Amino acid sequence: MFMEEALYGSDGFYTRGGGAGRRRDFLTSPEVGPLFGAVLARALDHWWNEAGRPDPYVVIEAGAGPATLARAILHAEPTCLAALRYILVDRSEAMRASHPAETGAAGFQLGEADEAESLPRQGPSLASRADIPPGPAHVILANELLDNLPFDLFERSVTGWDEVRMGVAGPVLLGADPRVPCASLAPDAPTGGRIAIQYQAAEWVADARQKAARVVVFDYCTTTASMSRRPWTDWCRTYRSHRRGAGAMEEPGSQDITAEVAVDQLPRRTADSTQAEFLRAHGIEELVAAGRRYWTEHAARPDLRAVEARSRTSECEALLDPTGLGAFRVLEWY
Ligand SMILES: C[S@@+](CC[C@H](N)C(=O)[O-])C[C@H]1O[C@@H](n2cnc3c(N)ncnc32)[C@H](O)[C@@H]1O
Repeated sequence: MFMEEALYGSDGFYTRGGGAGRRRDFLTSPEVGPLFGAVLARALDHWWNEAGRPDPYVVIEAGAGPATLARAILHAEPTCLAALRYILVDRSEAMRASHPAETGAAGFQLGEADEAESLPRQGPSLASRADIPPGPAHVILANELLDNLPFDLFERSVTGWDEVRMGVAGPVLLGADPRVPCASLAPDAPTGGRIAIQYQAAEWVADARQKAARVVVFDYCTTTASMSRRPWTDWCRTYRSHRRGAGAMEEPGSQDITAEVAVDQLPRRTADSTQAEFLRAHGIEELVAAGRRYWTEHAARPDLRAVEARSRTSECEALLDPTGLGAFRVLEWY
């Protein structure tokens, strides 16, 4: 499949070390600065308290990229820190190579509840894996993972639906398998309208749901019907070196390919909010106010912590921006 090869094949974009980060190709919420992780640390504490303060507290971050979010969460020192078993998961070896060294009881082979229970209670511990362990986990987090999972592309024809496949000489249209529910997902698609069928995203959620009590996904989202009415280059984008890239079917391996996530194709979620709503609910504004106070007290002789505290104001603006990251959706299953 084209997207699978272009991103994760032997010469794929992620295989070659492309990805999130100031020195890489695009910025994500964790890459804006440590504030996103500081809010997530509070959310993790909230869910830990709700769950009766389990120890160990197993949190898996899927599609962790270079582990910037994990570093920020640990740096924020949540109350659950001593109980925390944080497992970074990324299918890209290049990303895993940039993960911090495993610490604490991280060498454990998570997989059996008994094993997790018998871990020494002296966390936090960190582990890095290529796949989500069988579980059980308390929380699975994923920031901008689902949009990177390969999808199938379909186009409305005059008489029905075609699948758009990459042939040797370029894209070709083949009559769609009638079992693919294009017509019911996008009943009003105009001729030429394109949609993504995101089986892998739906399967990922279903699998994560089996393995964790709570699954929390941050991503840019849409619906299949909305996709069909917009130019497909609007909802399927490419990035490299902090710029938009070439067409999605051009120059495979040289650029990220990402598609908005069609929420109507995912398992029914328990909660759905904007990123701005989620971050506010978990105290982003209190953290910014505390940062401002710390800066004022230390402005005459600022230390590193004071500089970080001051930068919370601009990070917050970016994370809550209703035309940008603030409009991302936070989908939760629990
Ligand atoms: C857009 S990056 C997001 C990185 C990070 N979460 C962030 O927000 O900065 C997506 C990451 O997901 C990884 N990935 C893609 N499919 C995956 C899968 N099935 N399991 C684990 N990681 C995956 C990619 O290698 C890539 O590092």
